[in-house]
Amino acid sequence: MFSEINVRFCLKPGGSLNGQIRVPGDKSISHRSIMLGSLAEGVTHISGFLEGDDSLATLKAFRAMGVQIEGPDNGKVVVHGVGMLGLQSPAAALDLGNSGTSIRLMSGLLAGQSFDVEMVGDASLSKRPMRRVTDPLALMGAKIDSAEGGTPPLHLHGGSQLKGIDYTLPMASAQVKSCVLLAGLYAEGQTRVTEPAPTRDHTERMLQGFGYAIERDGATATLSGGGVLKATDIDVPADISSAAFFMVGAAIAENSNVLLEHVGINPTRTGVIDILRLMGAELEVTNERVVGGEPVADIRVASSKLKGIQIPEELVPLAIDEFPALFVAAACAEGETVLTGAEELRVKESDRIQVMADGLIKMGIKAEPTPGGVVIQGGSMRGAEVDSHGDHRIAMSFAMAALKASGSVVINDCANVNTSFPGFVSLASQAGLNISTK
Ligand code: S3P
Repeated sequence: MFSEINVRFCLKPGGSLNGQIRVPGDKSISHRSIMLGSLAEGVTHISGFLEGDDSLATLKAFRAMGVQIEGPDNGKVVVHGVGMLGLQSPAAALDLGNSGTSIRLMSGLLAGQSFDVEMVGDASLSKRPMRRVTDPLALMGAKIDSAEGGTPPLHLHGGSQLKGIDYTLPMASAQVKSCVLLAGLYAEGQTRVTEPAPTRDHTERMLQGFGYAIERDGATATLSGGGVLKATDIDVPADISSAAFFMVGAAIAENSNVLLEHVGINPTRTGVIDILRLMGAELEVTNERVVGGEPVADIRVASSKLKGIQIPEELVPLAIDEFPALFVAAACAEGETVLTGAEELRVKESDRIQVMADGLIKMGIKAEPTPGGVVIQGGSMRGAEVDSHGDHRIAMSFAMAALKASGSVVINDCANVNTSFPGFVSLASQAGLNISTK
């Protein structure tokens, strides 16, 4: 949305991270709270909503389809649900900015509506693969046009009666799983989705929270179309994917000790904790509790002596958004870190394997990309000017790398940090990062 403006992060080397930090709300849960709240019967009160560009794109899209939504006001949002059949045809194309979650989940939700919808995105989103959602939706009877190459814009033709399918995902993707399940709400009969490895299950949990019957049997989730959603209240925990930057920062920097408060620790999201522990991080999970159907805890991380590891492949989908930060941890670890089975990283907001390797190499680290991962030799990092390619998580990862660099770090193209982490610069500088913007 704002990616045409070159916001640069400038970091002085060194420093440490300390204090109690509450990072913004979970992006995945924020998106879903607007989607399900909009289709519910009754009024949904959300607190802790992420006021980032991505979740705001979802919010605006539902407003454009006639849903009355108050806020956000300090993380509080009130959604006046219109019921399963209450959405209205939007006057213009829905602009989903940088947000893959919005376009993929909404493809499912909107495929069975009576009206046509056009969904567009920014330069990054316009390059991302959508056949992974349009293929199963076509099997359900949806009519969707995409650009050549199966990328956005997507044009959904209204008026198709969807039918349930039994679908095995070709890749571990919560977005694709959610898309098919959400289309299943509007389909005749049962929709069954089987995943090759566990991925985040916020859609399944939240459907249950809204009173919609969904069954889970091993790797398969099943629901039947034609039910109703009942409004509920949602307390969005802090996003573990945003907390991850501070976990890595505190682990690599000397004299650091941070307490990350109220972090969502859904077991389908905690790969970053497991991987950092395997690397030797001093990390403590305390005060575990359940808030609105999602497990939450406080996480303390202190300066640690990290070692390189072979990252277990089963942890990859559980840490899929945290690899840019984990690559920085690997660069600061003693020895070699090897990641395999992570091809999906190449089709995120940027090619995260290549872009991270390029930046780490500029900082003097030996990083060798492979088709499905990377091999990183821990070492000493020098200052450098690196490019985030408009990818929020790349920008924040290199910001943390400055804690261990011997010279200044300049990161280009950082405006999209606002997609997931508004206020990053001020929160990180309060914690001790020597960061400014230019
Ligand atoms: C998300 C799922 C993940 C993740 C993305 C958010 C979600 O994508 O990378 O940031 O909210 O469902 P995939 O499911 O495509 O891996």
